[in-house]
Amino acid sequence: MTKPTTNNVGIPVASDDDSLTLGANGPILLQDHYLIEKNAQFNRERVPERVVHAKGGGAFGFLEVTEDVSQFTKAALFQPGTRTESLVRFSTVAGENGSPDTWRDPRGFAVKFYTSQGNYDIVGNNTPVFFIRDPIKFPDFIRSQKRRADNHLRDHNMQWDFWTQRTESAHQVTWLMGDRGLPRSWREMNGYGSHTYLWENAGGEKFWVKYHFKTDQGIGYLTQAEADRLAGEDADFHIRDLWTAIDKGNHPSWTLYVQVMPYQEAADYRFNPFDLTKVWPHGDYPLIKVGRWVLDRNPANYFAQIEQASFEPSNLVPGIGPSPDKMLQGRLFAYADAHRYRIGTNYTQLPVNAPKSEVNSYSKDGAMRFHNPADPVYAPNSYGGPHADAELASETASAYGVVDEVVRSAYRLHAEDDDYGQAGTLVRTVMDDAQRERLARNIIGHASNGVSAPVLERVFEYWRNVDKDLGDTVAGAFGK
Ligand code: NDP
Ligand code: HEM
Repeated sequence: MTKPTTNNVGIPVASDDDSLTLGANGPILLQDHYLIEKNAQFNRERVPERVVHAKGGGAFGFLEVTEDVSQFTKAALFQPGTRTESLVRFSTVAGENGSPDTWRDPRGFAVKFYTSQGNYDIVGNNTPVFFIRDPIKFPDFIRSQKRRADNHLRDHNMQWDFWTQRTESAHQVTWLMGDRGLPRSWREMNGYGSHTYLWENAGGEKFWVKYHFKTDQGIGYLTQAEADRLAGEDADFHIRDLWTAIDKGNHPSWTLYVQVMPYQEAADYRFNPFDLTKVWPHGDYPLIKVGRWVLDRNPANYFAQIEQASFEPSNLVPGIGPSPDKMLQGRLFAYADAHRYRIGTNYTQLPVNAPKSEVNSYSKDGAMRFHNPADPVYAPNSYGGPHADAELASETASAYGVVDEVVRSAYRLHAEDDDYGQAGTLVRTVMDDAQRERLARNIIGHASNGVSAPVLERVFEYWRNVDKDLGDTVAGAFGK
């Protein structure tokens, strides 16, 4: 037997077809509370979309640690044999919720681990580097990618105007304009933690680390023409691909690796190891295998589990801490702030965001609070309330020593702290001829779309600085 429909407080309702009116043709009565509830609820169905990474999709899975990296970290989730439940959300950066999955853009690769010591989030991208190296530039960078104030159009002139004046973007833009800027599917791309993090082992020894999730499906990419066609035919191509694969039992997996730098080596490394526009070459710091990360469960409710999912680079568990990477430092603030605005102050109580370990916090009340602490609600207290324990927390957050002057400064202290070197290496030594060809064609196509003459001059110079031949090819296409 079907269940009777009720309103939000369980009272049976009379109809989902006819409003309550005074006579068959009469006006609607204010006493039709169900009609009002139904429409009022509808008007409030959306939370604001994410200011960046608005379009995305996700799934659940697990991390299984197959190797022993306990000499580097005591974090519970990375101990040998540990299996930890996980959530991921993949996304594009600049588009709105509803924009095509196959627009050229970095892809978000945000992973949450529900560990026995609280939630650990690696909020990364499918690229190991980023466009800027200081968070003060982030709003400017994002606005150059979003819509104009006047005609509400995205604008390639704005994008190149920003990129060519902030030349630290060169490595990421080279990546973006190459094959990896258009993954065929989320299953066929790598994920990177991108920033450098601090690991601490049980003996108190510290290491700098970078995370790499390498796809077991193999790398796949779309040509610009394929992506343009798919944008029209199926704007949700990537959401559909992931959902269908998991639904059919074809569970995608990634092998998790780390690069590990001994703590003391950071000071004298040939470039600043905390600069987010640089990778650590594998020749210097090889990949060390950690385990296998698998996606095996689709969400049951997209709004509750994906739209309201909140990822935070500041969710760091004992044994893991931040590094002085300025971008990471900026992000430690930004995400919780965004969630409080977008979802609400008690967002961590929603099932998808709540940890699977115990919460003994003194935070209380606020809009939509569900679980509240019992008395005593203050610390310290003499009545058996929870107490903070520095030993347990192992606050690696403050572990690296810094005594210095307050300055505003670019990274320019190490021998190879430049903007173009690694972008050039990517073009010359990693890409083959066919990849370089596609890269040049993608740049030319992108820069042919409404970019003004003075900005174009900078575009040629930018690419000549990355690689002379590439720059000449781009300039040649414009008769320069
Ligand atoms: P390696 O030759 O050891 O590594 C090259 C890396 O480049 C591989 O990880 C490979 O990833 C990746 N790659 C292959 N094709 C492309 C492409 N078209 N676009 C982007 N990445 C690609 O060299 P190094 O470690 O010395 O680094 C050289 C350059 O490689 C760097 O300047 C950087 O641009 C790029 N790179 C470096 C990474 C690092 O962490 N060291 C990571 C990824 C790229 P895969 O195995 O997935 O194919
Ligand atoms: C989302 C800020 C750099 C990856 C977001 C959001 C904000 C933000 C406010 C929206 C959060 C939400 O509403 O849920 C910033 C700032 C940055 C920065 C201030 C630089 C200072 C980066 C970098 C990466 C990254 C370098 C990757 C290495 C992501 C991802 C998401 C995201 C993956 C989407 C998370 C999800 O799927 O919910 N960022 N970001 N961001 N950011 Fe950043």
